[in-house]
Amino acid sequence: MTYKPTLRWSDVTPHTMFLNRRQIMAAGAALLASPALGNSPYSTDETPNTREEISGYNNYYEFGLGKEDPAANASMLQTKPWTVKVDGMVDKPGIYDLDELISGMPIEERIYRFRCVEAWSMIIPWQGFQLSALLDKLGVQPGAKYVGFETLLRPEEMPGQKMGTLDWPYVEGLRLDEAMHPLTLIATGLYGQPLPNQNGAPIRLVVPWKYGFKNIKAIVRITLTDTQPPCTWNQIAPQEYGFYANVNPQVDHPRWSQASERRIGAGLLAGRQDTLMFNGYADEVASLYSGMDLAADY
Ligand code: MTE
Repeated sequence: MTYKPTLRWSDVTPHTMFLNRRQIMAAGAALLASPALGNSPYSTDETPNTREEISGYNNYYEFGLGKEDPAANASMLQTKPWTVKVDGMVDKPGIYDLDELISGMPIEERIYRFRCVEAWSMIIPWQGFQLSALLDKLGVQPGAKYVGFETLLRPEEMPGQKMGTLDWPYVEGLRLDEAMHPLTLIATGLYGQPLPNQNGAPIRLVVPWKYGFKNIKAIVRITLTDTQPPCTWNQIAPQEYGFYANVNPQVDHPRWSQASERRIGAGLLAGRQDTLMFNGYADEVASLYSGMDLAADY
């Protein structure tokens, strides 16, 4: 990840988002079946970013390194059909069709803060379901301590995978108690429509108290394990990106401060705002880390 200390107007100008009608109709019915919209107690009351901002300024290295590359290139990804491999310490392993895997999951809207490790942030109205509901359906076996995730590997449709920018496929992981936390979502939609490809269609992880890079996109594999799963950025630069990656204004990145953030779309005159411990979710999640040294386990 690169860091741009100087903000250019183009960094905050929404890129016109293009959603293909066919994609909406094909994916929409299954993934958005009667979402229980309304005010979740887990939602923030801050004003959400626009759809154009959320889908026009992205990190998704499979589609390029620039913030506008995913919006420009991600439409070439075919998200239907989609299969997810479930393996490891689980009662119901298998290779599932996505619709079958997530059938019965209670879809809700959650408006979450999102904080990238690069020190920008947004407010995002996701639709999705708690990862805990899916893990309960799959049956986590005793002894499992972590959940690993893997992104699709398909260089023909993800041209960034032909380059050595990252070790492909993108991988991420959570401790099991983090994965089971009610704030942890599998997102299927955004602003009441299926997730745009550039935001991680058809399913992506959302862990709002962690830096954005934990939020792995286009998931094709979920593994229950008793050993800490590999995580892409942590493997590349462990001194910069930890396994936990909890948002923490007191622990700086070696190359920049994490004390404040730039809210995308706030305008050039808005200035930076203070970053909150656990991205504002301390009341809900701080107990997961009691007794840990968060400067060592960053
Ligand atoms: N997932 C995959 N597969 N590839 C990526 O490059 N980037 C991560 C994360 N998930 C990334 C990914 C990073 S660095 C961030 S900040 C968020 O996605 C960005 O999510 P957004 O583009 O929806 O805001």
